[in-house]
Amino acid sequence: MGGYRQAHARSLADPEGFWGEAAAAIDWEHPCSRVLDASHPPFYRWFPDGRLNTCHNAVDRHIAAGRGDQVALVYDSPVTGTVRRFTYRELGDEAARVAGGLRSLGVEQGDRVILYMPMIPEAVIGMLACARIGAIHSVVFGGFAAAELATRIDDARPRVILSASCGLEGARVVAYKPLLDRALEMAEHRPEHCVIRQRPQAEAALVSGRDLEWDEVMAAAEPAPCVPVAATDPLYILYTSGTTGVPKGVVRDNGGHAVALRWSMDHIYAVQPGEVYWAASDVGWVVGHSYIVYAPLLAGCTTILYEGKPVGTPDAGAFWRVAADHGVNVLFTAPTALRAIKQQDPEGRLIGQYDLSRFRTLFLAGERCDPDTLEWARERLGVPVIDHWWQTETGWAIGANCLGIEALPVKPGSAGVPVPGYDVQILDAAGEELGPGEIGTIGIRLPLPPGNLPTLWQNDSGFVSSYLERYPGYYLTGDAGYRDEDGYLWIMSRIDDIINVAGHRLSTGAMEEVLASHPAVAECAVIGAADRLKGQVPVGFVVLKQGVDRPEAEIVAELVALVRDRIGPVAAFKQAAVVARLPKTRSGKILRSTMRRIADGEEWRLPATIDDPGTLDEVGRALAGLGFPGGPSPAGERP
Ligand code: COA
Ligand code: AMP
Repeated sequence: MGGYRQAHARSLADPEGFWGEAAAAIDWEHPCSRVLDASHPPFYRWFPDGRLNTCHNAVDRHIAAGRGDQVALVYDSPVTGTVRRFTYRELGDEAARVAGGLRSLGVEQGDRVILYMPMIPEAVIGMLACARIGAIHSVVFGGFAAAELATRIDDARPRVILSASCGLEGARVVAYKPLLDRALEMAEHRPEHCVIRQRPQAEAALVSGRDLEWDEVMAAAEPAPCVPVAATDPLYILYTSGTTGVPKGVVRDNGGHAVALRWSMDHIYAVQPGEVYWAASDVGWVVGHSYIVYAPLLAGCTTILYEGKPVGTPDAGAFWRVAADHGVNVLFTAPTALRAIKQQDPEGRLIGQYDLSRFRTLFLAGERCDPDTLEWARERLGVPVIDHWWQTETGWAIGANCLGIEALPVKPGSAGVPVPGYDVQILDAAGEELGPGEIGTIGIRLPLPPGNLPTLWQNDSGFVSSYLERYPGYYLTGDAGYRDEDGYLWIMSRIDDIINVAGHRLSTGAMEEVLASHPAVAECAVIGAADRLKGQVPVGFVVLKQGVDRPEAEIVAELVALVRDRIGPVAAFKQAAVVARLPKTRSGKILRSTMRRIADGEEWRLPATIDDPGTLDEVGRALAGLGFPGGPSPAGERP
């Protein structure tokens, strides 16, 4: 472990030296004179007086360095039967033209641009175009409903929205434009324009004056050059689920982000310029931002934009087909995608149909990877499978096996060791640092390394109260777990209401808010129950108002439709049960974690403070009725 330990220790002992050296891999219009501004804790700024442009570093510099004819982006879309390749030169031309198009609509440095886009090249180009002129992009995942989009529009207050007429979910056409129209009806903020990429699968009706055709705007545009911005200027805002129904606007800066992501390609993923890197995610998630768009391009790699699913487009061999067709060296996906593949092709027969000779490593993140799935992939693919742990907030891995520094033995079930730059500590309730084997809340000692969120969008106090207040001097990850004797991290659960459904981060609190708004519901609770495919799925419990005597099945169907309508299909909220009372402590706190243990068939004890033990029996029966392990009797004795 010598190489890794040395690198990690140095990054903590001399962060300025460490990241100052890493910054040399980035082109600066004006290099910084100081690496870290620590004068206003708990706020830290990396490369405070540096100036650069992220699009220049991701595209233009590679053209200047002779990579102009190398493929930068491959769009592979089994749902439309399309493969399109963009060289760095072509990507640069497109980004410059779209940047000019945005300029022609009045978008200036610091203005926000929302992208509500499916997985088409225009999404990547739109992001790079914003970066090019110093506009701040905010990509909203297509699986969110209009109401979620409206909340983000009101918070980010974009001057322009970039969207498309539709997305393709397997064989299903999802019309995006009506969702955008509805979101704009709900939102208070009015963007000046919406630029719509028309797709032949569903043409959208345009609102005259407000909506413009993508092709028309871009055809008339003058290419715009890269504008140098401060390293500390925001590159993007990405909204993520918080501990309430209100999403948090995670801000990413330009300088720290470019330095950290470029460093990660060499040191974590061990990928070289010119190689092919594929993150099978969506541009709407942080994995898509960091590892479909920015990191591979910053490193001069070829990146893949895959508009398809792991299964069904057309079969469970889709990932291996893409990897073989484009010579993928490193693949990054979520464990849930592998579980879906394994479910349909348990023997991995389809793997053998493709030439995967260039494929050398599989990385997983987004949720805990169960050891069975990891072993399955390792055996069938014959390559190292590396689980690594990170969050929207950090933007890149906190825990990993840094293959470019030193390949450590893989421990299935663990998310690897702390990555250089991260001083990961396990904390008890009083904030004391715990030793190996002791479970606690996971904190990261400040300062966070470059690339991590400097704050929340126009909400410094929310940043402090969400992440920094609970344990002064530490960033609260919201995850609980432990470190073993060898320093490996084991991520076990969230300490808040966040659940992970098919690698998508969701808040049960947000779902409870939706259920509570139903006129028949008096009280409710939503828990994340273990699911063989998706890792977790939400399950709702509702108590009806007195006098409501409609059929329960009818109300449950309305609740399912309501969550889909307000949060979106991505919430995968499909199951709910009506109960007479919710399990609570005598002080009125809902016993969600005991309910979750019952759902998962884990051992549980009757909480000493429970108000009415019969309520847990009822929850057990309801869960059993929904097909969960359930079980009415606790393992421990009743008080
Ligand atoms: N636009 C519109 N709708 C979307 C969408 C998008 N971009 N993404 C997902 N949805 C919809 C799906 O169509 C589905 O709708 P349905 O309820 O009508 O079937 C719903 O949201 C839930 O989607 P998902 O959770 O993805 O489930 P699925 O059953 O469609 O697919 C998997 C299951 C495992 C194949 C899929 O979840 C998957 O590929 N997961 C990998 C996730 C991933 O890469 N995460 C990134 C983090 S690293
Ligand atoms: P997101 O912000 O969507 O990336 O979700 C971040 C959360 O997903 C983390 O806080 C963890 O709870 C969970 N997560 C991500 N990667 C892993 C992993 N490798 N192992 C366990 N949990 C993970």
